[in-house]
Amino acid sequence: MSLWDDLRFHHAAHAGRPILSLFEGADRARHFSIRDGGLLFDYSRTAIDARARGLLIRLAEAAGVAQRREAMFGGAKINETEGRAVLHTALRNLDGSVTVDGRDVMPEVRAIHARCEAFARDVRDGGFTGQGGRITDVVNIGIGGSDLGPAMACLALSPYADGPRAHFVSNVDGAHVHDVLALLDPETTLVIVASKTFTTIETMTNAAAARAWLAAGVADPAAQFAAVSTALDRTAAFGIAPERVFGFADWVGGRYSVWGPVGLSLMIAIGPENFAGFLAGGAAMDAHFREAPFTENMAVMLALTGIWHNQICGHATRAVLPYEQRLARLPAYLQQLEMESNGKRVAMDGSDLTLPSGPVVWGEPGTNGQHAFYQLIHQGTRVIPCEFLVGREGHEPGLAHQHRLLVANCLAQSEALLRGRTLDEARAILAPKGLTGEELDRQARHRVFPGNRPSTTLAYPKLTPFVLGQIVALYEHRVFVEGVILGINSFDQWGVELGKELALALEPILAGRESAHGKDGSTRQLVGFLR
Ligand code: F6P
Repeated sequence: MSLWDDLRFHHAAHAGRPILSLFEGADRARHFSIRDGGLLFDYSRTAIDARARGLLIRLAEAAGVAQRREAMFGGAKINETEGRAVLHTALRNLDGSVTVDGRDVMPEVRAIHARCEAFARDVRDGGFTGQGGRITDVVNIGIGGSDLGPAMACLALSPYADGPRAHFVSNVDGAHVHDVLALLDPETTLVIVASKTFTTIETMTNAAAARAWLAAGVADPAAQFAAVSTALDRTAAFGIAPERVFGFADWVGGRYSVWGPVGLSLMIAIGPENFAGFLAGGAAMDAHFREAPFTENMAVMLALTGIWHNQICGHATRAVLPYEQRLARLPAYLQQLEMESNGKRVAMDGSDLTLPSGPVVWGEPGTNGQHAFYQLIHQGTRVIPCEFLVGREGHEPGLAHQHRLLVANCLAQSEALLRGRTLDEARAILAPKGLTGEELDRQARHRVFPGNRPSTTLAYPKLTPFVLGQIVALYEHRVFVEGVILGINSFDQWGVELGKELALALEPILAGRESAHGKDGSTRQLVGFLR
């Protein structure tokens, strides 16, 4: 039997066992959680027992996670379908040395980082100004990895934002660029065009709109543009002066790029020192990922709970539930990180994947989600593993009582998912209200919570730049480990290409310049309606 079969067999053999029963006797909470770097990752409220954990770890070992991990950190071209190294970790380990194609890439990484820092300081202290004075607002135009990372992090770290205000435009929907720019003054706005390829249609279209907006307000619009890209020829063609172009290598994947120049808007907002704290948190998680044995390794165990829930138990989605309003964009960020990385149906060797690919990731901050979709999580017919995130302390000392309420809600939800409420308990609650017989039973059944629903909790001291760095790097490595175990390439994204090509072909049809002949009936009908 393979390890997968062993795991499936073990899962089936204990399918009816309540998770709560695993807490009897042994100090399960301690043995099924990991503390490191100020974080506590608790996976004790899952059905993973010692045998399942042992098998899962053997699975990770057999898949070569350790070897693959070292290959990644060492600059090997593990992104085999694009022939690239995967070195976002180098962006947060500035003192290191990594060789790609026989060349140490770090001097260049350090040089660009230093240029970003110098520019960020200039923008923040008025060394670089707009045509009407000091920069008050920065607009990052980008999409996917060139948007979600800095947008998520700027919101997460807003208590540290003491520089110009950061804004984000991503959608090709003109409403987005319109609504953001409508609030701003072109004379004091810096526009950063962030695009790894500098060809992405949404970004290029929005950049053109921003240029037109600037042109209407200042004499020299190009002077208020900066760019972040790997395509320096294209940034030059757009007219952005080389001293405000911040390049990076092709071994930084878009969804892994917030640590480098793509994080420029974040660095301007929170300052280079706080940005360094974010990098340090990421580097600390890298060290933990490389050094901790698998049983004590947060990234490995977070990945293995993911594999257990998705590939073994068959739960196709997972909810990410930060009890931290400022992590409101984390689920969206993780959607790209996880689903673009591990949403693959072909293994690295070109064969069909025989396991389910990575899960659907979704979520919202608590407590908001509690009043929206938690009903389904508690009483729906499908099991949705939940990943809670919560901090010990907020940034509002005067509102500490609200933070306590927030934490209480987080802990209450995971406890409710674990325990549930039996029919007898529901009857006992209703009986004093005068209900009896069949009506008592009928009403009680609606109030039963099956419980035994798995969750994990990642607890942290406070959402500082360092902690955010730890969390983001933790999830990156989790995705990596899951991808290695599935045998897929987590670093390409061919699945986004077809839609892009078809959109390009449809635009002239919608404009009436070309006919819809050859399109399917539904597309023709919709074109007819929308044209
Ligand atoms: O369409 C997907 C994607 O290629 C993402 O992987 C990437 O983060 C995003 O588009 C933006 O790409 P770029 O930074 O090249 O504009």
